[in-house]
Amino acid sequence: MNSPLQTEHLWMPFTANRQFKEKPRLLSKAEGMYYQSSDGRQILDGTAGLWCVNAGHNHPKIVAAIQQQAATMDFAPTFQMGHPLAFEAATKLAEITPTGMDRVFFCNDGSEGVDTALKIALAYHRIRGEAGRFRLIGRERGYHGVGFGGISVGGIAGNRKQFGPGLSGIDHLPHPLDITRNAFSKGLPVHGEELAGILETRLLALHDPTTVAAVIVEPIQGSTGVIIPPKDYLRRLRDICSKHGILLIFDEVITGFGRLGTAFGADYFDVIPDMIICAKGLTNAAVPMGAVVVNTAIYDSFMASSPKDSIELFHGYTYSAHPLACAAAIATLEVYQEEQLFERAAQIAPYFEAAAHQLRDLPHVRDIRNLGLVCGIELSPQAGKTTTRAFDIFEKCFWEKDLLIRTTGDIIALSPPLIINHAQIEQLFSKLAEAIREHANKANTSI
Ligand SMILES: Cc1ncc(COP(=O)(O)O)c(C=O)c1O
Repeated sequence: MNSPLQTEHLWMPFTANRQFKEKPRLLSKAEGMYYQSSDGRQILDGTAGLWCVNAGHNHPKIVAAIQQQAATMDFAPTFQMGHPLAFEAATKLAEITPTGMDRVFFCNDGSEGVDTALKIALAYHRIRGEAGRFRLIGRERGYHGVGFGGISVGGIAGNRKQFGPGLSGIDHLPHPLDITRNAFSKGLPVHGEELAGILETRLLALHDPTTVAAVIVEPIQGSTGVIIPPKDYLRRLRDICSKHGILLIFDEVITGFGRLGTAFGADYFDVIPDMIICAKGLTNAAVPMGAVVVNTAIYDSFMASSPKDSIELFHGYTYSAHPLACAAAIATLEVYQEEQLFERAAQIAPYFEAAAHQLRDLPHVRDIRNLGLVCGIELSPQAGKTTTRAFDIFEKCFWEKDLLIRTTGDIIALSPPLIINHAQIEQLFSKLAEAIREHANKANTSI
């Protein structure tokens, strides 16, 4: 018999620890579109883990690549040393990034990717004699991971509350979510492009454009509730940044690797930033890895800025380009191509959209928004208890409907693996609809 699980030693991330430990939700296996819970149920994965298992769980090719690499070479330093897989992984990644964006710096996750990109932006201006460009601009409700740089440019009140003000020299654009004008938009919301203009009319006017190093945004704000940019919004940001010599950074930790039916959000929106941060789907989440991809001009500026025998960028991680992560990344990028998963996501996205919007008339649904294989369903909060409605539905889905969803505040976020089929999409939304309905009925009868 298995001994009972000891839960007291683990301090769980982004979790209500005490609540969780009273009734742990445990996953023990995974394959394809499904997890297996520790009590033996098959759980449909509506969230690709944490927006990351794009090719489905335990893909045999990725598993084999990691196993083989672990048995061949466990670790190799990449400071003043190298190993072939690091170069191969960078080359493969550069093959699918937008034209001209083809220099790759590896790190271990999205948060390190964000801090790496912000540091590159600051250093880039300094090596070109523009040290006065020290400001960074993010966005309200932006999520850029948990490093000090990321929480500073991010726009989440919880970070300010627990960790204080963060870095100085930061400002934020307003977020573009506007349910009063755009509720139940299918795809890009029509209203709100003008909010990008605030970058120029308010923030640059206030701070002086020559003090700004970079603007960082997620093409879709995922973690804070699926906020989809209004039509032409990102293009306008691009134009303003280009006009004032400011670097535009796309944090594509969620939108990278097919989530919108294209390799990157940059491709979907046809707006090319100066840097792309990616992670998650880079290795199908099988081994942690992140990357910052920069345009050739940025890399070349660093190479031209110092003598050949000096270190051009004073930055790196022990595990940058870890051999296991590189093996996983190479295999994953091959799987995306061999199985045409980005194209598949694009083809199935209209079906996903139609199924999502069928939930429109359910109780307490205030908005449904979607793009590619991402969907947000915003619920009205229970009186005096923000977040509890969505969380109760999340628990009901897990325990009673064998479905994994994700919630943030009172917003349900769905982002299934790109291998999801029509029947599984039906299943996903019908199970979720049942959970929303049953939750509302229960609330009514308990009044
Ligand atoms: C847009 C974005 N940036 C950064 C991160 C941080 O990534 P990680 O948790 O791998 O550090 C996330 C994580 O969800 C994200 O969504």
